[in-house]
Amino acid sequence: MANQDDQFKKVVSHAKEYGFVFQSSEIYDGLSAVYDYAQNGVELKKNIREYWWKAMVQMHENIVGLDAAIFMHPTTWKASGHVDAFNDPLIDNKDSKKRYRADVLIEDYVAKLDDKIEKEVEKAAKRFGDSFDKDQFLTTNPRVLGYKEKGESILKRMGKSLAEENLADVKALIEELEIACPLTGSRNWTEVKQFNLMFGTKIGASADASMDLYLRPETAQGIFVNFSNVQKSGRMKIPFGIAQTGKAFRNEIVARQFIFRMREFEQMEMQFFVRPGTQKEWYEEWKQARLKWHLSLGLGKENYRFHDHDKLAHYADAAADIEFKFPFGFKELEGIHSRTDFDLASHEKFSGKKLQYFDPELNEHYVPYVVETSIGLDRMFLAVFSNSLQEEDLENGTTRTVLRLPAVLAPTKAAILPLVKKDGLPEIARKIMDDLKWDFSVDYDEKDAVGRRYRRQDAVGTPFCITVDHETLTDDTVTIRYRDTMAQNRVKISELRGIIKEEVDVKKWLMKM
Ligand code: GAP
Repeated sequence: MANQDDQFKKVVSHAKEYGFVFQSSEIYDGLSAVYDYAQNGVELKKNIREYWWKAMVQMHENIVGLDAAIFMHPTTWKASGHVDAFNDPLIDNKDSKKRYRADVLIEDYVAKLDDKIEKEVEKAAKRFGDSFDKDQFLTTNPRVLGYKEKGESILKRMGKSLAEENLADVKALIEELEIACPLTGSRNWTEVKQFNLMFGTKIGASADASMDLYLRPETAQGIFVNFSNVQKSGRMKIPFGIAQTGKAFRNEIVARQFIFRMREFEQMEMQFFVRPGTQKEWYEEWKQARLKWHLSLGLGKENYRFHDHDKLAHYADAAADIEFKFPFGFKELEGIHSRTDFDLASHEKFSGKKLQYFDPELNEHYVPYVVETSIGLDRMFLAVFSNSLQEEDLENGTTRTVLRLPAVLAPTKAAILPLVKKDGLPEIARKIMDDLKWDFSVDYDEKDAVGRRYRRQDAVGTPFCITVDHETLTDDTVTIRYRDTMAQNRVKISELRGIIKEEVDVKKWLMKM
């Protein structure tokens, strides 16, 4: 655990030291769970957004984009169920005065059972060596089965209690499992209460004429209220999707783990409108499609897993998370939800406007069903960033810190470095930069010894360093250094564009899907 903590601390401090993420309003001691993206972070975030957008909108002829406003008519949130049901069950510890999400305390308890299973697997793998059959072990070992059964029954009971608003039973479960305050070990708990997560605000200049609004807690509703506008103006035929990226706001009770759980964050969501009765197939299809998108980035297949929900949100008939192995363990990265016709039907009811589709093949009108994919951009940033940050022992006994970002997402694709600051080398380096910047984001750096400059670029994830030296003056060649292998090749200046493009081309990466 100490190791995980250390690794996570390194991620947070590296993000600050190298200009990726700063705490919001830091000079005023910051604002809890609100962050700013700095010069490198903003590029990485933009590249992740673009990678998602291209895969989702550009590569699908039946998916179009949208950019709806953050402010929406307040009835939206009544119709969507957020006013009544967008609550977290919270519990306070009377001794430590710390507030927790009751469901998170219980889920953390179950995660510890999962850790125990992992440990049993590791022990058995050592004991049995090459003859170890993990699948067989997981399905037959009595201790593993016991942990699994216990975890499943706890989550089932919690899901049922939350669905029935039986908060007394949620507290009873915490007591039965002897869950203690993680900070102090105290088991002196208050009752469990519901807490609405939406931020309220007002629109209008004078107190009498003002109207109470909410900052949107998800981008999805901007898509639902525009369903008919987009369908008609784009002459869209079912099945089709509407995709959107944008800010969302939640007054999270447990704001922790850096940009994993923020109060202001960005979502990338796609609502896929389908014929009623086909939602199960599309749900399975999108689960696989989204996993493939993640795998295309090469962060390691073993770092992803599906988690099917027992506790369903008020709008869903099936839901799963794609979980990622963050430095603090497997946690939700993306949600895939079969939202039924809940949202459109509810907006029809509250607005009095028809939100239906005429299906020419069936010759009938219906309210479409919806399968949603929803990923937090900041969470995706954390997944990519934490997975890429590595410390490597070198043969000469030193270590180097390298951010092995997928090249397609790297903030800067190449750095152009004159070996020395004289003899005309800076001029050539600048000329190369001025030429390459039409196609790639590139950087110029002439300060310090070239070795130190390489290390600086490694630390921000730049895949290529291009060094201009005295040989360049005679034969128009430069050294190109590869971030991951540190290998160096001598190439013609005219070849640079092709070499970089091959490595950072979105097509090359998305083709892996
Ligand atoms: N429209 C469905 C929806 O909003 P969700 O599971 O509540 O579903 C979707 O959120 C995704 O948004 C999550 O998988 C996560 O990546 C991201 N997300 C949710 N709350 C977040 C928060 N407080 N901070 C950062 N990302 C968050």
